[in-house]
Amino acid sequence: MATVAEPPIVQKQTLELLWADFGLTRAYLIVALVALFGGVVMGLFQGLDHAGINLYPKLAPIIQSYYQGLTIHGVLNVLVWTTFFISGFLPLVMTYSLERPLASRRLAWGSFVLMLAGLLMAAVPLVTNDATVMFTFYPPMRASWAFYVGLTLVVVGTWLVTLNLALTYRSWRRDHPENRIPLPAFMSLATFTMWSIASLGIAAEMLFMMIPWSLGMVAGTDALMARVLFWFTGHPIVYFLLLPAYLSWYVFLPRQAGGRLYSDPLARVAFIMFLVLSTPLGFHHQFTDPVIGEGWKFVHAVFTFAVFFPSLMTFFNVGASLESGGRARGGRGFVWWFSRLPWGDPAVACQVLAMVTFAFGGIGGLINASVNLDLLVHNTAWIVGHLHLTVATAVTLTYMGITYWLVPVLWGRELWSRRLALAQAWIWAFGMLIFSHSLHAVGLEGMPRRTMIRAATYIQPEWRHYMMLTGIGGCILFVSAMLYFLNIVLTMTVSRRAERDMPEFADAISGPADSPDFLDRWKIWLTVGAGLILIAYGPTLYRLLMHTTYDSPGFRVW
Ligand code: CU
Repeated sequence: MATVAEPPIVQKQTLELLWADFGLTRAYLIVALVALFGGVVMGLFQGLDHAGINLYPKLAPIIQSYYQGLTIHGVLNVLVWTTFFISGFLPLVMTYSLERPLASRRLAWGSFVLMLAGLLMAAVPLVTNDATVMFTFYPPMRASWAFYVGLTLVVVGTWLVTLNLALTYRSWRRDHPENRIPLPAFMSLATFTMWSIASLGIAAEMLFMMIPWSLGMVAGTDALMARVLFWFTGHPIVYFLLLPAYLSWYVFLPRQAGGRLYSDPLARVAFIMFLVLSTPLGFHHQFTDPVIGEGWKFVHAVFTFAVFFPSLMTFFNVGASLESGGRARGGRGFVWWFSRLPWGDPAVACQVLAMVTFAFGGIGGLINASVNLDLLVHNTAWIVGHLHLTVATAVTLTYMGITYWLVPVLWGRELWSRRLALAQAWIWAFGMLIFSHSLHAVGLEGMPRRTMIRAATYIQPEWRHYMMLTGIGGCILFVSAMLYFLNIVLTMTVSRRAERDMPEFADAISGPADSPDFLDRWKIWLTVGAGLILIAYGPTLYRLLMHTTYDSPGFRVW
Protein backbone atom coordinates (compact mmCIF):
# COMPACT_ATOMS: atom_id res chain seq x y z
CA MET A 1 0.00 0.00 0.00
CA ALA A 2 1.35 3.40 -0.94
CA THR A 3 2.02 5.87 1.81
CA VAL A 4 1.49 9.60 1.87
CA ALA A 5 4.42 11.89 2.52
CA GLU A 6 4.24 14.00 5.66
CA PRO A 7 4.68 17.65 4.70
CA PRO A 8 8.02 18.86 6.05
CA ILE A 9 7.99 21.73 8.50
CA VAL A 10 9.65 24.61 6.69
CA GLN A 11 9.51 28.31 7.31
CA LYS A 12 7.11 29.98 4.91
CA GLN A 13 9.79 32.26 3.54
CA THR A 14 12.03 29.37 2.52
CA LEU A 15 9.05 27.50 1.26
CA GLU A 16 8.25 30.11 -1.35
CA LEU A 17 11.85 30.33 -2.44
CA LEU A 18 12.11 26.57 -2.66
CA TRP A 19 8.96 25.75 -4.49
CA ALA A 20 6.95 28.38 -6.17
CA ASP A 21 7.82 30.99 -8.74
CA PHE A 22 5.31 33.64 -7.71
CA GLY A 23 6.59 35.97 -10.41
CA LEU A 24 5.60 33.50 -13.09
CA THR A 25 2.07 33.11 -11.74
CA ARG A 26 1.78 36.88 -11.36
CA ALA A 27 2.81 37.39 -14.98
CA TYR A 28 0.24 34.90 -16.29
CA LEU A 29 -2.44 36.34 -14.05
CA ILE A 30 -1.90 39.90 -15.24
CA VAL A 31 -2.28 38.87 -18.89
CA ALA A 32 -5.36 36.82 -17.97
CA LEU A 33 -6.98 39.75 -16.17
CA VAL A 34 -6.27 42.21 -18.98
CA ALA A 35 -7.87 39.76 -21.41
CA LEU A 36 -10.91 39.31 -19.19
CA PHE A 37 -11.29 43.07 -18.95
CA GLY A 38 -11.12 43.58 -22.72
CA GLY A 39 -13.56 40.75 -23.33
CA VAL A 40 -16.04 41.96 -20.74
CA VAL A 41 -16.11 45.47 -22.24
CA MET A 42 -16.93 43.95 -25.64
CA GLY A 43 -19.61 41.85 -23.94
CA LEU A 44 -21.28 44.99 -22.65
CA PHE A 45 -21.61 46.36 -26.19
CA GLN A 46 -23.22 43.12 -27.36
CA GLY A 47 -25.67 43.15 -24.48
CA LEU A 48 -26.60 46.76 -25.19
CA ASP A 49 -26.99 45.94 -28.87
CA HIS A 50 -29.52 43.22 -27.99
CA ALA A 51 -31.41 45.79 -25.94
CA GLY A 52 -31.57 48.04 -29.01
CA ILE A 53 -28.75 50.44 -28.10
CA ASN A 54 -26.35 50.63 -31.01
CA LEU A 55 -23.02 52.10 -29.93
CA TYR A 56 -20.97 50.86 -32.87
CA PRO A 57 -21.05 54.05 -34.93
CA LYS A 58 -19.53 55.87 -31.96
CA LEU A 59 -17.00 53.09 -31.39
CA ALA A 60 -15.91 53.01 -35.03
CA PRO A 61 -12.38 54.30 -34.47
CA ILE A 62 -11.74 51.30 -32.19
CA ILE A 63 -14.31 48.64 -33.03
CA GLN A 64 -15.68 48.51 -36.57
CA SER A 65 -18.65 46.26 -36.07
CA TYR A 66 -20.73 44.05 -33.82
CA TYR A 67 -18.93 41.07 -35.28
CA GLN A 68 -15.48 42.39 -34.55
CA GLY A 69 -16.55 43.00 -30.95
CA LEU A 70 -18.08 39.53 -30.76
CA THR A 71 -14.86 37.95 -32.04
CA ILE A 72 -12.73 39.83 -29.53
CA HIS A 73 -15.19 38.96 -26.75
CA GLY A 74 -15.02 35.24 -27.53
CA VAL A 75 -11.27 35.03 -28.12
CA LEU A 76 -10.34 37.02 -25.02
CA ASN A 77 -12.83 35.51 -22.59
CA VAL A 78 -13.06 31.90 -23.72
CA LEU A 79 -9.50 31.34 -24.92
CA VAL A 80 -7.10 33.88 -23.42
CA TRP A 81 -8.38 34.70 -19.91
CA THR A 82 -8.80 31.01 -19.14
CA THR A 83 -5.65 29.61 -20.76
CA PHE A 84 -3.37 32.17 -19.14
CA PHE A 85 -5.05 31.77 -15.76
CA ILE A 86 -4.67 27.98 -15.91
CA SER A 87 -1.07 28.12 -17.12
CA GLY A 88 -0.20 30.34 -14.15
CA PHE A 89 -2.32 28.61 -11.51
CA LEU A 90 -1.79 24.89 -12.05
CA PRO A 91 2.03 24.97 -12.11
CA LEU A 92 1.83 26.84 -8.78
CA VAL A 93 -0.49 24.16 -7.39
CA MET A 94 1.82 21.46 -8.76
CA THR A 95 4.95 22.88 -7.13
CA TYR A 96 3.19 23.52 -3.87
CA SER A 97 1.70 20.03 -3.86
CA LEU A 98 4.95 18.20 -4.71
CA GLU A 99 6.97 20.57 -2.53
CA ARG A 100 9.52 21.17 -5.22
CA PRO A 101 10.08 23.80 -7.91
CA LEU A 102 9.20 23.21 -11.55
CA ALA A 103 11.73 21.06 -13.38
CA SER A 104 12.89 23.99 -15.48
CA ARG A 105 12.46 27.62 -14.58
CA ARG A 106 13.80 28.62 -17.98
CA LEU A 107 11.26 26.42 -19.76
CA ALA A 108 8.50 27.89 -17.59
CA TRP A 109 9.38 31.46 -18.52
CA GLY A 110 10.04 30.44 -22.11
CA SER A 111 6.49 29.05 -22.32
CA PHE A 112 5.10 32.28 -20.94
CA VAL A 113 7.05 34.44 -23.39
CA LEU A 114 5.98 32.23 -26.31
CA MET A 115 2.33 32.39 -25.29
CA LEU A 116 2.47 36.15 -24.81
CA ALA A 117 4.18 36.62 -28.19
CA GLY A 118 1.50 34.45 -29.82
CA LEU A 119 -1.24 36.42 -28.12
CA LEU A 120 0.17 39.76 -29.27
CA MET A 121 0.57 38.41 -32.79
CA ALA A 122 -3.08 37.29 -32.89
CA ALA A 123 -4.19 40.54 -31.27
CA VAL A 124 -2.95 42.73 -34.12
CA PRO A 125 -5.38 41.44 -36.80
CA LEU A 126 -8.14 41.23 -34.19
CA VAL A 127 -7.76 44.93 -33.45
CA THR A 128 -7.30 45.96 -37.09
CA ASN A 129 -10.47 44.06 -38.06
CA ASP A 130 -8.55 41.54 -40.16
CA ALA A 131 -9.59 38.51 -38.13
CA THR A 132 -13.32 38.99 -37.56
CA VAL A 133 -13.99 35.27 -37.84
CA MET A 134 -15.30 34.64 -34.28
CA PHE A 135 -13.59 32.42 -31.81
CA THR A 136 -14.40 29.25 -33.78
CA PHE A 137 -12.83 30.75 -36.95
CA TYR A 138 -14.73 28.50 -39.36
CA PRO A 139 -13.42 28.63 -42.91
CA PRO A 140 -14.16 29.60 -45.61
CA MET A 141 -14.04 32.87 -43.67
CA ARG A 142 -10.38 33.75 -43.86
CA ALA A 143 -8.48 35.83 -41.33
CA SER A 144 -4.98 37.24 -41.53
CA TRP A 145 -2.29 34.56 -41.17
CA ALA A 146 -1.04 36.30 -38.02
CA PHE A 147 -4.24 35.32 -36.21
CA TYR A 148 -3.76 31.60 -36.90
CA VAL A 149 -0.01 31.62 -36.28
CA GLY A 150 -0.45 33.59 -33.05
CA LEU A 151 -3.09 31.26 -31.62
CA THR A 152 -0.97 28.26 -32.63
CA LEU A 153 1.96 29.66 -30.66
CA VAL A 154 -0.30 29.96 -27.61
CA VAL A 155 -1.23 26.29 -27.97
CA VAL A 156 2.42 25.28 -28.38
CA GLY A 157 3.16 27.27 -25.21
CA THR A 158 0.61 25.18 -23.30
CA TRP A 159 2.34 22.01 -24.52
CA LEU A 160 5.58 23.31 -23.03
CA VAL A 161 3.74 23.82 -19.73
CA THR A 162 2.65 20.17 -19.94
CA LEU A 163 6.23 19.14 -20.61
CA ASN A 164 7.45 21.06 -17.58
CA LEU A 165 4.78 19.53 -15.33
CA ALA A 166 5.61 16.05 -16.64
CA LEU A 167 9.35 16.56 -16.02
CA THR A 168 8.58 17.86 -12.55
CA TYR A 169 6.46 14.82 -11.84
CA ARG A 170 9.19 12.50 -13.15
CA SER A 171 11.85 13.96 -10.89
CA TRP A 172 9.47 13.80 -7.93
CA ARG A 173 8.71 10.18 -8.77
CA ARG A 174 12.42 9.32 -8.79
CA ASP A 175 12.71 10.64 -5.24
CA HIS A 176 9.46 9.07 -4.05
CA PRO A 177 9.12 5.72 -5.85
CA GLU A 178 6.63 4.36 -3.31
CA ASN A 179 4.47 7.39 -2.62
CA ARG A 180 1.04 8.09 -3.94
CA ILE A 181 1.14 11.24 -6.10
CA PRO A 182 -0.63 13.97 -4.10
CA LEU A 183 -4.10 14.74 -5.39
CA PRO A 184 -3.50 18.40 -6.44
CA ALA A 185 -0.45 17.41 -8.49
CA PHE A 186 -2.31 14.45 -9.97
CA MET A 187 -5.14 16.74 -11.07
CA SER A 188 -2.82 19.40 -12.50
CA LEU A 189 -0.94 16.84 -14.54
CA ALA A 190 -4.14 15.10 -15.70
CA THR A 191 -5.62 18.42 -16.83
CA PHE A 192 -2.63 19.42 -18.94
CA THR A 193 -2.16 15.90 -20.31
CA MET A 194 -5.80 15.75 -21.39
CA TRP A 195 -5.47 19.17 -23.04
CA SER A 196 -2.26 18.27 -24.85
CA ILE A 197 -3.95 15.25 -26.45
CA ALA A 198 -7.15 17.13 -27.23
CA SER A 199 -5.37 20.11 -28.78
CA LEU A 200 -3.83 17.92 -31.49
CA GLY A 201 -7.00 18.51 -33.54
CA ILE A 202 -6.71 22.27 -33.59
CA ALA A 203 -2.96 22.00 -34.14
CA ALA A 204 -3.55 19.85 -37.22
CA GLU A 205 -6.21 22.27 -38.48
CA MET A 206 -3.83 25.20 -38.07
CA LEU A 207 -0.66 23.61 -39.40
CA PHE A 208 -2.06 21.69 -42.37
CA MET A 209 -5.02 23.85 -43.37
CA MET A 210 -5.42 27.35 -42.00
CA ILE A 211 -1.84 28.61 -41.89
CA PRO A 212 -0.77 27.46 -45.40
CA TRP A 213 -4.11 28.68 -46.77
CA SER A 214 -3.96 32.10 -45.12
CA LEU A 215 -0.39 32.50 -46.38
CA GLY A 216 -1.50 31.67 -49.93
CA MET A 217 0.64 28.52 -50.07
CA VAL A 218 -2.44 26.47 -50.97
CA ALA A 219 -5.41 27.76 -52.92
CA GLY A 220 -8.34 26.19 -51.16
CA THR A 221 -9.71 24.77 -47.98
CA ASP A 222 -12.60 22.65 -46.80
CA ALA A 223 -15.19 23.75 -44.28
CA LEU A 224 -16.19 20.30 -43.06
CA MET A 225 -12.67 18.99 -42.52
CA ALA A 226 -11.79 22.15 -40.60
CA ARG A 227 -14.88 21.79 -38.41
CA VAL A 228 -14.10 18.15 -37.60
CA LEU A 229 -10.55 19.06 -36.54
CA PHE A 230 -11.74 22.15 -34.69
CA TRP A 231 -14.33 20.26 -32.61
CA PHE A 232 -11.83 17.49 -31.90
CA THR A 233 -10.36 20.19 -29.64
CA GLY A 234 -13.35 22.49 -29.23
CA HIS A 235 -15.33 20.35 -26.83
CA PRO A 236 -12.43 19.11 -24.68
CA ILE A 237 -11.30 22.72 -24.34
CA VAL A 238 -14.26 23.26 -22.04
CA TYR A 239 -12.87 20.52 -19.79
CA PHE A 240 -9.46 22.16 -19.93
CA LEU A 241 -11.20 25.26 -18.56
CA LEU A 242 -13.43 23.37 -16.14
CA LEU A 243 -10.95 20.94 -14.56
CA PRO A 244 -8.92 23.67 -12.80
CA ALA A 245 -12.22 24.88 -11.30
CA TYR A 246 -12.97 21.31 -10.21
CA LEU A 247 -9.45 21.08 -8.79
CA SER A 248 -10.17 24.12 -6.65
CA TRP A 249 -13.51 22.64 -5.53
CA TYR A 250 -11.77 19.40 -4.56
CA VAL A 251 -8.51 20.48 -2.98
CA PHE A 252 -9.11 24.01 -1.65
CA LEU A 253 -12.85 24.56 -1.18
CA PRO A 254 -13.56 21.82 1.43
CA ARG A 255 -11.05 23.37 3.85
CA GLN A 256 -12.21 26.89 3.03
CA ALA A 257 -15.71 25.69 3.92
CA GLY A 258 -14.49 24.33 7.25
CA GLY A 259 -14.69 20.67 6.29
CA ARG A 260 -12.81 17.86 4.60
CA LEU A 261 -12.79 16.35 1.14
CA TYR A 262 -15.20 13.44 1.20
CA SER A 263 -13.24 11.08 -1.04
CA ASP A 264 -9.78 11.44 -2.54
CA PRO A 265 -10.00 8.15 -4.55
CA LEU A 266 -13.34 9.12 -6.10
CA ALA A 267 -11.81 12.45 -7.14
CA ARG A 268 -8.99 10.58 -8.87
CA VAL A 269 -11.47 8.34 -10.68
CA ALA A 270 -13.32 11.44 -11.90
CA PHE A 271 -10.15 13.00 -13.32
CA ILE A 272 -9.11 9.74 -14.99
CA MET A 273 -12.54 9.58 -16.61
CA PHE A 274 -12.05 13.13 -17.91
CA LEU A 275 -8.62 12.20 -19.21
CA VAL A 276 -10.08 9.26 -21.11
CA LEU A 277 -13.49 10.56 -22.18
CA SER A 278 -13.06 14.29 -22.88
CA THR A 279 -12.00 13.98 -26.51
CA PRO A 280 -13.95 11.30 -28.44
CA LEU A 281 -17.16 13.34 -28.59
CA GLY A 282 -16.75 16.43 -30.78
CA PHE A 283 -19.46 15.41 -33.27
CA HIS A 284 -22.10 16.59 -30.81
CA HIS A 285 -21.28 20.02 -32.21
CA GLN A 286 -21.85 18.67 -35.72
CA PHE A 287 -25.16 16.84 -35.47
CA THR A 288 -26.45 18.87 -38.41
CA ASP A 289 -23.28 18.54 -40.53
CA PRO A 290 -23.46 16.40 -43.67
CA VAL A 291 -21.11 13.53 -44.60
CA ILE A 292 -20.45 12.40 -41.01
CA GLY A 293 -22.39 9.15 -40.55
CA GLU A 294 -25.40 9.18 -38.22
CA GLY A 295 -23.99 6.13 -36.43
CA TRP A 296 -20.79 7.99 -35.56
CA LYS A 297 -22.79 10.95 -34.35
CA PHE A 298 -24.60 8.52 -32.08
CA VAL A 299 -21.28 7.15 -30.77
CA HIS A 300 -20.16 10.68 -29.92
CA ALA A 301 -23.50 11.37 -28.22
CA VAL A 302 -22.97 8.27 -26.06
CA PHE A 303 -19.49 9.44 -25.05
CA THR A 304 -20.91 12.87 -24.28
CA PHE A 305 -23.38 11.30 -21.87
CA ALA A 306 -20.54 9.19 -20.44
CA VAL A 307 -18.43 12.25 -19.65
CA PHE A 308 -21.39 13.65 -17.71
CA PHE A 309 -20.76 11.03 -15.02
CA PRO A 310 -17.45 12.36 -13.68
CA SER A 311 -19.20 15.72 -13.34
CA LEU A 312 -22.02 14.06 -11.39
CA MET A 313 -19.38 12.34 -9.22
CA THR A 314 -17.77 15.72 -8.66
CA PHE A 315 -21.09 17.18 -7.64
CA PHE A 316 -21.66 14.36 -5.15
CA ASN A 317 -18.11 14.41 -3.78
CA VAL A 318 -17.80 18.19 -3.44
CA GLY A 319 -21.38 18.41 -2.13
CA ALA A 320 -20.58 15.86 0.59
CA SER A 321 -17.38 17.77 1.41
CA LEU A 322 -19.31 21.02 1.76
CA GLU A 323 -21.80 19.22 3.96
CA SER A 324 -18.97 18.13 6.26
CA GLY A 325 -18.02 21.82 6.49
CA GLY A 326 -21.59 23.02 7.10
CA ARG A 327 -22.12 20.41 9.83
CA ALA A 328 -18.76 21.12 11.48
CA ARG A 329 -19.93 24.72 11.72
CA GLY A 330 -23.07 23.71 13.57
CA GLY A 331 -25.37 23.12 10.60
CA ARG A 332 -28.24 20.69 11.17
CA GLY A 333 -30.99 19.06 9.21
CA PHE A 334 -31.22 17.60 5.74
CA VAL A 335 -30.45 20.80 3.81
CA TRP A 336 -29.98 23.55 6.39
CA TRP A 337 -26.27 22.82 6.83
CA PHE A 338 -25.96 24.64 3.51
CA SER A 339 -26.84 27.95 5.15
CA ARG A 340 -24.01 27.47 7.69
CA LEU A 341 -21.26 27.47 5.08
CA PRO A 342 -18.86 30.40 5.55
CA TRP A 343 -20.78 32.70 3.20
CA GLY A 344 -18.74 35.65 4.42
CA ASP A 345 -15.65 34.30 2.62
CA PRO A 346 -15.71 35.56 -0.99
CA ALA A 347 -13.71 32.55 -2.20
CA VAL A 348 -16.40 30.24 -0.82
CA ALA A 349 -19.32 32.39 -1.99
CA CYS A 350 -17.96 32.61 -5.55
CA GLN A 351 -17.27 28.91 -5.84
CA VAL A 352 -20.49 27.65 -4.27
CA LEU A 353 -22.56 30.04 -6.40
CA ALA A 354 -20.60 28.86 -9.44
CA MET A 355 -21.40 25.24 -8.56
CA VAL A 356 -25.10 25.87 -8.08
CA THR A 357 -25.32 27.75 -11.38
CA PHE A 358 -23.37 25.00 -13.07
CA ALA A 359 -26.02 22.43 -12.15
CA PHE A 360 -28.35 24.14 -14.63
CA GLY A 361 -25.58 24.34 -17.21
CA GLY A 362 -25.03 20.60 -16.86
CA ILE A 363 -28.70 19.80 -17.38
CA GLY A 364 -28.75 22.05 -20.46
CA GLY A 365 -25.67 20.22 -21.71
CA LEU A 366 -27.56 16.93 -21.68
CA ILE A 367 -30.19 18.53 -23.90
CA ASN A 368 -27.51 19.75 -26.32
CA ALA A 369 -25.99 16.28 -26.41
CA SER A 370 -29.24 14.56 -27.41
CA VAL A 371 -29.43 14.42 -31.21
CA ASN A 372 -33.17 15.06 -31.45
CA LEU A 373 -33.37 17.75 -28.76
CA ASP A 374 -30.27 19.44 -30.13
CA LEU A 375 -32.04 19.99 -33.45
CA LEU A 376 -34.34 22.38 -31.63
CA VAL A 377 -31.62 24.44 -29.96
CA HIS A 378 -28.77 24.12 -32.48
CA ASN A 379 -27.27 27.50 -33.42
CA THR A 380 -29.86 29.38 -31.39
CA ALA A 381 -29.34 31.80 -28.51
CA TRP A 382 -29.95 28.81 -26.20
CA ILE A 383 -26.33 27.75 -26.79
CA VAL A 384 -25.09 31.20 -25.80
CA GLY A 385 -27.14 30.95 -22.61
CA HIS A 386 -25.62 27.53 -22.00
CA LEU A 387 -22.02 28.57 -22.42
CA HIS A 388 -22.48 31.57 -20.17
CA LEU A 389 -23.60 29.20 -17.38
CA THR A 390 -20.61 26.97 -17.97
CA VAL A 391 -17.61 28.99 -19.16
CA ALA A 392 -18.75 32.39 -17.91
CA THR A 393 -19.97 31.21 -14.50
CA ALA A 394 -18.85 27.74 -13.41
CA VAL A 395 -15.38 28.52 -14.73
CA THR A 396 -15.06 32.30 -14.54
CA LEU A 397 -16.78 32.85 -11.19
CA THR A 398 -14.68 30.05 -9.69
CA TYR A 399 -11.48 31.61 -11.06
CA MET A 400 -12.59 34.95 -9.60
CA GLY A 401 -13.11 33.23 -6.25
CA ILE A 402 -9.61 31.77 -6.50
CA THR A 403 -8.09 35.18 -7.23
CA TYR A 404 -9.70 36.55 -4.06
CA TRP A 405 -7.17 34.49 -2.06
CA LEU A 406 -4.50 34.08 -4.74
CA VAL A 407 -3.88 37.76 -5.47
CA PRO A 408 -3.34 38.56 -1.74
CA VAL A 409 -0.88 35.64 -1.54
CA LEU A 410 1.02 36.60 -4.69
CA TRP A 411 1.18 40.33 -3.99
CA GLY A 412 1.63 40.12 -0.21
CA ARG A 413 -1.34 42.38 0.49
CA GLU A 414 -4.75 41.97 2.06
CA LEU A 415 -7.81 41.76 -0.11
CA TRP A 416 -8.87 45.38 -0.47
CA SER A 417 -12.52 44.79 0.37
CA ARG A 418 -14.14 41.54 1.42
CA ARG A 419 -17.63 43.04 1.30
CA LEU A 420 -17.17 44.35 -2.20
CA ALA A 421 -16.00 40.89 -3.25
CA LEU A 422 -19.09 39.29 -1.72
CA ALA A 423 -21.36 41.81 -3.41
CA GLN A 424 -19.58 41.15 -6.70
CA ALA A 425 -20.16 37.39 -6.45
CA TRP A 426 -23.88 37.75 -5.75
CA ILE A 427 -24.37 40.40 -8.42
CA TRP A 428 -22.69 38.09 -10.94
CA ALA A 429 -24.95 35.18 -10.01
CA PHE A 430 -28.05 37.39 -10.12
CA GLY A 431 -27.10 39.02 -13.42
CA MET A 432 -26.38 35.63 -14.94
CA LEU A 433 -29.77 34.34 -13.85
CA ILE A 434 -31.48 37.04 -15.93
CA PHE A 435 -28.98 36.97 -18.80
CA SER A 436 -28.80 33.24 -19.22
CA HIS A 437 -32.47 32.55 -18.64
CA SER A 438 -33.53 35.03 -21.30
CA LEU A 439 -31.06 33.61 -23.83
CA HIS A 440 -32.23 30.05 -23.19
CA ALA A 441 -35.85 31.10 -23.53
CA VAL A 442 -35.43 33.17 -26.68
CA GLY A 443 -33.34 30.36 -28.16
CA LEU A 444 -36.31 28.05 -27.74
CA GLU A 445 -38.33 30.68 -29.62
CA GLY A 446 -35.85 30.28 -32.48
CA MET A 447 -33.63 33.34 -32.19
CA PRO A 448 -30.27 32.56 -33.86
CA ARG A 449 -26.91 33.01 -32.23
CA ARG A 450 -23.82 34.71 -33.76
CA THR A 451 -26.08 37.38 -35.21
CA MET A 452 -26.40 41.12 -34.79
CA ILE A 453 -30.03 40.51 -34.05
CA ARG A 454 -31.02 44.17 -33.58
CA ALA A 455 -30.52 44.67 -37.31
CA ALA A 456 -32.28 41.49 -38.43
CA THR A 457 -35.38 41.90 -40.58
CA TYR A 458 -36.99 38.77 -39.18
CA ILE A 459 -37.23 39.63 -35.48
CA GLN A 460 -40.27 37.97 -33.95
CA PRO A 461 -42.36 40.11 -31.59
CA GLU A 462 -41.99 37.54 -28.79
CA TRP A 463 -38.18 37.92 -28.90
CA ARG A 464 -38.19 41.60 -27.98
CA HIS A 465 -38.85 41.17 -24.30
CA TYR A 466 -36.06 38.59 -23.94
CA MET A 467 -33.63 40.70 -25.97
CA MET A 468 -34.23 43.55 -23.54
CA LEU A 469 -33.72 41.22 -20.56
CA THR A 470 -30.47 39.95 -22.11
CA GLY A 471 -29.26 43.54 -22.30
CA ILE A 472 -30.24 44.21 -18.68
CA GLY A 473 -28.57 40.99 -17.49
CA GLY A 474 -25.46 41.89 -19.48
CA CYS A 475 -25.28 45.31 -17.84
CA ILE A 476 -25.58 43.76 -14.37
CA LEU A 477 -22.75 41.36 -15.25
CA PHE A 478 -20.67 44.28 -16.46
CA VAL A 479 -21.18 46.11 -13.16
CA SER A 480 -20.12 43.00 -11.27
CA ALA A 481 -17.01 42.64 -13.45
CA MET A 482 -16.03 46.28 -12.85
CA LEU A 483 -16.38 45.81 -9.08
CA TYR A 484 -14.16 42.77 -9.43
CA PHE A 485 -11.44 44.64 -11.31
CA LEU A 486 -11.62 47.58 -8.90
CA ASN A 487 -11.10 45.27 -5.95
CA ILE A 488 -8.31 43.27 -7.57
CA VAL A 489 -6.38 46.29 -8.84
CA LEU A 490 -6.61 48.03 -5.45
CA THR A 491 -5.53 44.79 -3.77
CA MET A 492 -2.47 44.64 -5.99
CA THR A 493 -1.51 48.27 -5.54
CA VAL A 494 -2.69 50.09 -2.41
CA SER A 495 -4.15 47.53 -0.01
CA ARG A 496 -2.50 46.98 3.38
CA ARG A 497 0.66 44.88 3.23
CA ALA A 498 0.27 41.48 4.84
CA GLU A 499 2.18 38.25 4.33
CA ARG A 500 -0.39 35.66 3.35
CA ASP A 501 0.31 31.95 3.30
CA MET A 502 -0.79 29.72 0.50
CA PRO A 503 -3.93 28.04 1.82
CA GLU A 504 -3.37 24.46 2.86
CA PHE A 505 -4.89 21.68 0.82
CA ALA A 506 -7.99 20.07 2.25
CA ASP A 507 -7.66 16.87 4.27
CA ALA A 508 -9.71 13.96 3.04
CA ILE A 509 -12.18 11.82 4.98
CA SER A 510 -11.16 8.95 2.71
CA GLY A 511 -7.55 9.67 1.81
CA PRO A 512 -5.17 8.70 -0.98
CA ALA A 513 -4.15 5.50 0.85
CA ASP A 514 -7.66 4.19 0.12
CA SER A 515 -7.30 4.55 -3.62
CA PRO A 516 -6.15 1.55 -5.65
CA ASP A 517 -2.67 1.75 -7.18
CA PHE A 518 -3.85 1.29 -10.74
CA LEU A 519 -5.31 4.80 -10.71
CA ASP A 520 -1.75 6.14 -10.79
CA ARG A 521 -0.75 4.11 -13.86
CA TRP A 522 -0.77 6.80 -16.48
CA LYS A 523 0.17 4.45 -19.33
CA ILE A 524 -2.99 2.38 -19.04
CA TRP A 525 -5.28 5.40 -19.05
CA LEU A 526 -3.47 7.14 -21.88
CA THR A 527 -3.73 3.96 -23.94
CA VAL A 528 -7.45 3.62 -23.23
CA GLY A 529 -7.96 7.30 -24.09
CA ALA A 530 -6.05 6.99 -27.37
CA GLY A 531 -8.02 3.85 -28.22
CA LEU A 532 -11.37 5.57 -27.72
CA ILE A 533 -10.27 8.52 -29.87
CA LEU A 534 -9.20 6.11 -32.59
CA ILE A 535 -12.58 4.37 -32.52
CA ALA A 536 -14.60 7.58 -32.40
CA TYR A 537 -12.66 9.57 -35.00
CA GLY A 538 -10.61 7.04 -37.00
CA PRO A 539 -13.11 5.91 -39.65
CA THR A 540 -14.56 9.38 -40.31
CA LEU A 541 -11.16 11.08 -40.44
CA TYR A 542 -9.86 8.37 -42.76
CA ARG A 543 -12.83 8.82 -45.10
CA LEU A 544 -12.45 12.60 -45.08
CA LEU A 545 -8.71 12.37 -45.72
CA MET A 546 -9.35 10.14 -48.73
CA HIS A 547 -12.16 12.14 -50.31
CA THR A 548 -11.85 15.80 -49.32
CA THR A 549 -10.99 18.19 -52.11
CA TYR A 550 -9.64 21.41 -50.70
CA ASP A 551 -11.29 23.69 -53.20
CA SER A 552 -13.01 26.46 -51.28
CA PRO A 553 -11.52 29.93 -51.66
CA GLY A 554 -11.39 32.28 -48.70
CA PHE A 555 -14.02 34.91 -48.01
CA ARG A 556 -14.00 38.15 -46.15
CA VAL A 557 -17.63 38.54 -45.14
CA TRP A 558 -17.11 41.42 -42.73
CU1 CU B 1 -19.46 20.28 -26.55
